[in-house]
Amino acid sequence: MSSILIHGGRVIDPAAGLDEWLDVLVVDGRIAEVGVDLAAPDGASLLAASGLVVAPGFIDLHTHLREPGQEHKETIASGARAAARGGFTTICAMPNTEPAMDSAAIIDGVLQRAQDVDCRVLPIGAVSKGREGRELTELAALKDAGAVAVSDDGDAVADTSLARRAFEYLSDIGIPLAEHCEDPAIAQGGVMHDGAVSARLGLRGQPAAAELSIVQRDITLAEAAGSQLHCCHISTEPALQAIADARARGLNVTAEVTPHHLCLTHDAVAGRGDELLYDTDAKVNPPLRTQADVQACIDALAAGIVDAVATDHAPHAAVDKQCEFDAAAFGISGLESAWPVVNSLVDAGRLTLPEAIERLTVGPVRAWSLDRGELNGLGTLKVGAPADLTLLSTDAVSRVEPDSWASMGKNTPLAGHTLVGVVAATVSQGRIVWDGREQ
Ligand code: DOR
Ligand code: ZN
Ligand code: ZN
Repeated sequence: MSSILIHGGRVIDPAAGLDEWLDVLVVDGRIAEVGVDLAAPDGASLLAASGLVVAPGFIDLHTHLREPGQEHKETIASGARAAARGGFTTICAMPNTEPAMDSAAIIDGVLQRAQDVDCRVLPIGAVSKGREGRELTELAALKDAGAVAVSDDGDAVADTSLARRAFEYLSDIGIPLAEHCEDPAIAQGGVMHDGAVSARLGLRGQPAAAELSIVQRDITLAEAAGSQLHCCHISTEPALQAIADARARGLNVTAEVTPHHLCLTHDAVAGRGDELLYDTDAKVNPPLRTQADVQACIDALAAGIVDAVATDHAPHAAVDKQCEFDAAAFGISGLESAWPVVNSLVDAGRLTLPEAIERLTVGPVRAWSLDRGELNGLGTLKVGAPADLTLLSTDAVSRVEPDSWASMGKNTPLAGHTLVGVVAATVSQGRIVWDGREQ
């Protein structure tokens, strides 16, 4: 028997409406008891949580691991270590690997490689073979192999007739289509948000309408098929409005926002000083938008129109970013700064602490119905749930220092920023996978 007693923390379990100073006992990989003054069984490890929040481990619906194929950017193991440090105990891995995760065999390979890493990895299968947008994958076989959703993320499923057939098949299969909402005919190769900053920098912009166009199209297709649309990394106010309207009509439409779209605008591309920066670390898809869009993302998250904060963790090698803006890769490494970003919103009074934790735990679990079978109780601290927890400081000030991260991707425009919030320790499947309390 292996056990851990986490004592003296402020236990916040949004699923149970719980917010009290309590102990949590973990035995053999499950939550055994939550209560006052629990006794430590013989041989138990102790995790002192005084002054810290004890929450269910975070669930990320949107992580890019680069294995197979681009292990110089991130491996499954390094990404899982980054997750643990960021408080995440479950990450859903996007299929834009090389080769793409478009067959049961490749998904099986990823699951094998993920067996002993520092968090749970749930694979997302590709919608189209090779993510080429031409031919559907064997969607049911991907689900049977363990895919919790399907997506061609990196690109939208641009071909409307292919998207329509995908939604039709998925109504029987019962997993969501996680759409990268960007209409290529409107985005036209834009490298940042189309607006005042792109004009000033002389960079090709992609308009907000590129996002809205696919969101509206997919709402129509998902409604007609009776299946679930999940809108990835929504970044604009009109798209959030369309999602709110669809939900108000009772449609099965879920959505996520990223930490970077909650705290940065397109100004980050130009830099903070007088000199224009062309910061490639702020190059991301969807692009960083306007202050009004940031505000709309925060409001929609607080209102529950958006189910989850998802990182879109997109690690890249230094050479992919140290080049001219047009040539740089899109993406921000996000697992290890997610909690400080979200908690800083709490600190600023824009979101309550239970809301923030809900959107990182049971919110994403409910959005994708992940709490099935042995994952019953995922995202909660109920007795019998998987022993996935994170210990959080809500008031410690931290500087974003990617050089000290576990992720191989150091690419973030937040480097050097001072935020409020630290992940103190993480327990994944009954194992202490991160303990930063002494560091
Ligand atoms: O910025 C992004 N990076 N957006 C995407 O859609 C893909 C991702 C990646 O894989 O690097
Ligand atoms: Zn995407
Ligand atoms: Zn992505």
